[in-house]
Amino acid sequence: MSELANKRLVVGMTGGIACYKIGELVRRLIEQGTTVDVVMTEAATRFITPVTMQALSGRPVYVDQWDARMPNNMAHINLTRGADAVLVAPASTDFLAKLAHGMADDLLTTLCVARACPLLVVPAMNREMWANPATQRNAAQLRADGITLLGPAEGDQACGEVGSGRMLEPHEILEELVAHFQPKLLAGKRVLVTAGPTSEPIDPVRVLTNVSSGKMGYAIARAAREAGADVTLVSGPTALATPRGVRRIDVTTARDMLEAVTSNVSAAEVFIAVAAVADWRVKEASARKLKKTEDGPPQLEFVQNPDILATVAGLPQPPYCVGFAAETEDLGRHAAEKRARKRIPLLVGNLAQEALGHDDTTLVLYDDAGEHPLARQPKLAAARQLIAEISRRVLGSGPAGAQGTSAPAGSHAGS
Ligand code: C5P
Repeated sequence: MSELANKRLVVGMTGGIACYKIGELVRRLIEQGTTVDVVMTEAATRFITPVTMQALSGRPVYVDQWDARMPNNMAHINLTRGADAVLVAPASTDFLAKLAHGMADDLLTTLCVARACPLLVVPAMNREMWANPATQRNAAQLRADGITLLGPAEGDQACGEVGSGRMLEPHEILEELVAHFQPKLLAGKRVLVTAGPTSEPIDPVRVLTNVSSGKMGYAIARAAREAGADVTLVSGPTALATPRGVRRIDVTTARDMLEAVTSNVSAAEVFIAVAAVADWRVKEASARKLKKTEDGPPQLEFVQNPDILATVAGLPQPPYCVGFAAETEDLGRHAAEKRARKRIPLLVGNLAQEALGHDDTTLVLYDDAGEHPLARQPKLAAARQLIAEISRRVLGSGPAGAQGTSAPAGSHAGS
């Protein structure tokens, strides 16, 4: 079931060409089972009609604060009571200015001032309008008032200019909405995650790698960010999009990954090593393409790659370290051996044939208290459950999770 099912949103629209994208956003929300009340400013109706928004939301659309369809004539109160959030997209320069000053001269601004629920605002305007000191001042004021600003993004603008001021795309707004409703179990914590495979050169056109898709590590980075953490993702080569709000550092080899991790680990309170690091690399990668010869295949000499997780766990003041193990059999035995060898408080095991490349996974947590299997579920749901388990161990908070889990004695847990 979608994370946005059974939520009630007020979607406010102000005057801007990006209004045309809100039709798509509302369509996606309705598909997910969200109830959407659309409120438009007069200017928004110049870009897209209330008829369109009513057809897409399946509910009456409100523009006028004196709308007689409300029995008590109080649309500004009625619409937000019971709403989980108000989302204003696109939010114009004028709307930001009014909101920052608590003005209430139409239905949407009045409703925002009268609301009793969170407000998320998605600015969309020409780059000069966004860069204008007055707009920046208003944006800073809105943040200080506890309003969430999403974007704007950089890129091509409808006016033909290029810069910062573009509205986030509907799928990005959806991702932010989903994140908004997740519990902030790791608020303010810094989390470092490795993900994907590493790729070790043999020659300029050949590499040694593995079948890791990176999906689990990316889901964990996303779940940690949704939980309010400041997340850095060190990623080997993957085809995946960076989760919103996550700082991503791209690397190729295990040695690159170690370097990126080493330069970022001192700030981290939690380190989650999900990457499928190549255990070996070719001792001397050839500078030239190896040619087929009559003498048969080349004789390659391998050397061991550095163990990134063990290196971090061995630091004088390590972050809380979480390792992963994908095994084809004897998961429990291998996991216990790996946890002890790397001296980490928590190891997460899964069976390679059930996890690699799949969208679902079955995780088993191993700590000092024993073995704690989680249900088979989509990787993002598993990642969220794992983040809750980690936050409980690191902070002593979060929901009750896998049976019998407890803070591991002698763990390296940070504060
Ligand atoms: O040693 P092994 O590959 O079995 O352990 C897997 C765990 O160790 C994973 O968390 C993986 O990200 C991490 N690892 C590492 N550096 C390596 C090998 C594995 O960080 N060179």
